[in-house]
Amino acid sequence: MLLQGRRALIMGVANNRSIAWGIARAFHREGATLAFTYQGERLKDNLVGLLAEIGGAAGYPIFPCDVTSDDEVAAAFAGLAERWGALDVLVHCVAFADREDLLRPFSGISRKGYALALEVSAYSLIRCAGAARPLLEAAGGGSIMTLTYNAVDRVVPSYNVMAVAKAALECEVRYLAAELGPINVRVNAISAGPLRTLAASAVRGLSGFRDAVEGIAPLRRNVTLEEVAGVATFLASDLSRSVTGNTIFADSGFHVMGVAGQLEVARKPEG
Ligand SMILES: NC(=O)c1ccc[n+]([C@@H]2O[C@H](COP(=O)([O-])OP(=O)(O)OC[C@H]3O[C@@H](n4cnc5c(N)ncnc54)[C@H](O)[C@@H]3O)[C@@H](O)[C@H]2O)c1
Repeated sequence: MLLQGRRALIMGVANNRSIAWGIARAFHREGATLAFTYQGERLKDNLVGLLAEIGGAAGYPIFPCDVTSDDEVAAAFAGLAERWGALDVLVHCVAFADREDLLRPFSGISRKGYALALEVSAYSLIRCAGAARPLLEAAGGGSIMTLTYNAVDRVVPSYNVMAVAKAALECEVRYLAAELGPINVRVNAISAGPLRTLAASAVRGLSGFRDAVEGIAPLRRNVTLEEVAGVATFLASDLSRSVTGNTIFADSGFHVMGVAGQLEVARKPEG
């Protein structure tokens, strides 16, 4: 029960494959009290259905929160302040880019698509961290985490505009960590290997990425939702109390392999 007594707000459950839902299940198992935000009425029904799986929706506050709406963000955190008065953990699992902008050549990304991807996937962390700050302060400190993908340091062509959004997001993690550290709030990103989720279905070639991870990563297997949720549990717990401003890779070690290493493994797969 690593998270006994912790109050966590989880943003970004769309369905049972969502990384946010994997994290919710792990936090629940470890004794945390949960609240959720959802994007729109359709996803509210999904969320309520999923909550039934972990003992019913009763007692877990849920709030509508489209992160492009300042009013909805403010109302969600005001609602949480009213219910709990304080918050220990904020889990940000929110990202979006127009499929069209993921399919264009990089130099053809539209102005509108760029602004939308950056607003939803990166600016939202700043906005939500700002809204959560008084609640985290009231708890005497806490942990904020977000999800990224390693198309930032390496080029993954079909990740396109989302790679720029993730670069901004990872930078925000460092700036927020520096600002919020003095009030004992830690801020980190988890860089997850490819998982089959709704958001990932918009990225061309994802199953190819998964095959590559399996064949080349030091651990020779893909990551699972449970493994990513395990890193999130660590970041929410006291075990990580000295960890802030980091991007932690949960990718079976794939990111450490250079091109030469990848080629060598491909030539001698049993090696
Ligand atoms: N699946 C992967 O392979 C993978 C790998 C690394 C990182 N990630 C990241 O993990 C996070 C969660 O994605 P996922 O893969 O679980 O997919 P998902 O589709 O289950 O979750 C994405 C969530 O973002 C929410 N969202 C989108 N636009 C929103 C808006 N305007 N307001 C509020 N919420 C909005 C959706 O409602 C959804 O719940 C994302 O940041 C994603 O980039 C995913």
